[in-house]
Amino acid sequence: MAAAVRVLFDEGAIARRVSALAAEIAADHGGRPPVIVGIRNGAVPFMMDLLRAFPVSWNSDLVFDFLDATSYAGSCSTGDIRLAGDLVVSVEGREVLVVDGIVDTGRTMAAVLNHLGDSKPSRVRVCTLLDKPSRRRVAVPIVYRGFEVEDLFVVGYGMDLDQRYRGLPYIGVVEESA
Ligand code: IMP
Ligand code: MG
Repeated sequence: MAAAVRVLFDEGAIARRVSALAAEIAADHGGRPPVIVGIRNGAVPFMMDLLRAFPVSWNSDLVFDFLDATSYAGSCSTGDIRLAGDLVVSVEGREVLVVDGIVDTGRTMAAVLNHLGDSKPSRVRVCTLLDKPSRRRVAVPIVYRGFEVEDLFVVGYGMDLDQRYRGLPYIGVVEESA
């Protein structure tokens, strides 16, 4: 049996959605870009494409940083979220945009929002490429959402299955094939 990936969102669909999200974010923030905080590792490909899709006028003022979030217990989230890595940039008094690849139970994003609150940003908005609302256990105020997905374990474009598949340029579901 070999594993194959059934494509849910191909490169073109992702690129179009990322452009639309970047335009929406730019329209909501006016002249000054928010501080972009990505949740490593899953957010990285999405965040890099999002940054490049922002208005050219934002380039010189754009600041981004990362937080590391790890959920113990493999693919079965227990709510035991560990955050590591402090922000290098200051978010005090700034608008912040938190970026992740997927919000599932919501526990990771809730922990990140709680952590960021200590740094006194003026406002925090959440942007996720994928949203799995059927799995939510903790409410998360998602402002920018790329795609809603059903309760499937997805891989690609930053998302992994035991650290594999993150490099795929598309998003899909791993299936066994004969
Ligand atoms: P949450 O804390 O349950 O919302 O989970 C968020 C994290 O779990 C994401 O940042 C991913 O790292 C991981 N995750 C949740 N669902 C998936 C999936 O379908 N594929 C890959 N990773 C996932
Ligand atoms: Mg993650």
